Amino acid sequence: MAAKSSKIKTLFSCTECGAQSPKWAGRCTECGDWNTLVEEIVGGPGAPADVPLAPTNRSGPSRIGEVRTDTARPISTGISELDTVLGGGLVAGSVTLLGGEPGIGKSTLLLQLLAARDDTTLYVSAEESATQVRLRAERLDAIRDDLWLHAETSLPHVIKAIDETKPELVVIDSIQTMVDPDLTSAPGSVGQVRGCAHRLVNEAKERNIAIVLVGHVTKDGNLAGPRVLEHVVDTVLQFEGDRHHALRLLRAVKHRFGPTNELGLFEMIGAGLVAVPDPSTMFLADRRTGVAGSAVVPTMEGRRPIVVELQALTSKGLENVPKRRSAQGIDGGRLSMLMAVLGRRGKIAVADQDVYASAAGGAKLNEPGLDLGICLAVASSMCDRPLPADLAAFGEVGLGGEVRQVSHAPRRVTEAARLGFRRVIVPAKSPDADDEVADQVRLIRVATLADALREAGVDASASSF
Ligand code: TYD
Ligand code: MG
Repeated sequence: MAAKSSKIKTLFSCTECGAQSPKWAGRCTECGDWNTLVEEIVGGPGAPADVPLAPTNRSGPSRIGEVRTDTARPISTGISELDTVLGGGLVAGSVTLLGGEPGIGKSTLLLQLLAARDDTTLYVSAEESATQVRLRAERLDAIRDDLWLHAETSLPHVIKAIDETKPELVVIDSIQTMVDPDLTSAPGSVGQVRGCAHRLVNEAKERNIAIVLVGHVTKDGNLAGPRVLEHVVDTVLQFEGDRHHALRLLRAVKHRFGPTNELGLFEMIGAGLVAVPDPSTMFLADRRTGVAGSAVVPTMEGRRPIVVELQALTSKGLENVPKRRSAQGIDGGRLSMLMAVLGRRGKIAVADQDVYASAAGGAKLNEPGLDLGICLAVASSMCDRPLPADLAAFGEVGLGGEVRQVSHAPRRVTEAARLGFRRVIVPAKSPDADDEVADQVRLIRVATLADALREAGVDASASSF
């Protein structure tokens, strides 16, 4: 809908999702949020032009085999977890959007990224003063000669700074606070954010430099306003974590140069963010064995197996009140479905119970392999019997009560074995364990949820209720 003509007209844009409509409404028809439509003037001077996809695409069509690929090679960032997520590193000429809640550590991560490079880099701070950034850089040991700092919100000044310092990598912190005076829309509006991003994408492609934009997220975890930006940039990274825990998770939500399923793990310490080389040990650090309602699951994050503890607590709900299904770090809808299956197929009477389930340690997990662990944790709580301390379990649970295969079974088993688990409940058709752990760990194959409950000693007959 971006106006190419010079005719000026007004539109209404949603500040949450960026959807546009010709007339005002109390509620956005796209995302359903209330009171988010704001007036914007489009067209006229300074309307964003079309954005080129790559520096080379001005030359007309070419045979696919003759297209150069050397321009899209990732360059290592010097931060191993970031390289993992990016599939090797940042690509010159690319634009990356880093989203995350305030205070999660975006500025910290990017300052560390700039400090780890050995070429010229520019940090544009549009939120904090130069002094504040410098003080933080001192704490992060990020002071070096080729790291330029510019506290500025005006886009033309930023582009001038890029001209002057000729950086290979630019960080804009944040895109929401950038203002392009050539644009007619108000500062902070969707039009400004989009317009500034378009211009920066142009600069990145034309100069063949990498640009990273910081974007804030709304209360429900979506990128605010700049959801429209997701289409413009090459890569969208999401920085997550619980502010009360030190653990931070970095994921690629969109990535034009590689896979999107890799996970980077960091821990926030006094001297900034450090990689977490052994997340399983960290997630299990506070686990107490011999407690009912706890199950251990080797789950997958990208290609990385991580062993996590799932906890559940059941307590009899009030009569005539809908029963609670409270999920933290796992999917709430999935929990409700599993409770129905556990009741009908597993004969565990959860229907009149409030059920609280969580992934320990502030992890946010969403993977079918967790199903079996969730069911076992709830069943264990119901019959007030701990699961064996050396037992782990994974598998998807279907509506028929069947236990289905999930990806990377051998890797999950190997990781569980490494952490000392000697028995793993797996889907019946799961492949064998890898040779090097085959004699350390026993696979207990189950075809149904009922089998799994029995093998774990938490089926209905074990219950004392
Ligand atoms: P910050 O990078 O400012 O977050 P964002 O840019 O996403 O808003 O990080 C903010 C938090 O991180 C802040 O509450 C303090 C904490 N922190 C540390 O614990 N150690 C450090 O070395 C730094 C720089 C920050
Ligand atoms: Mg910040």
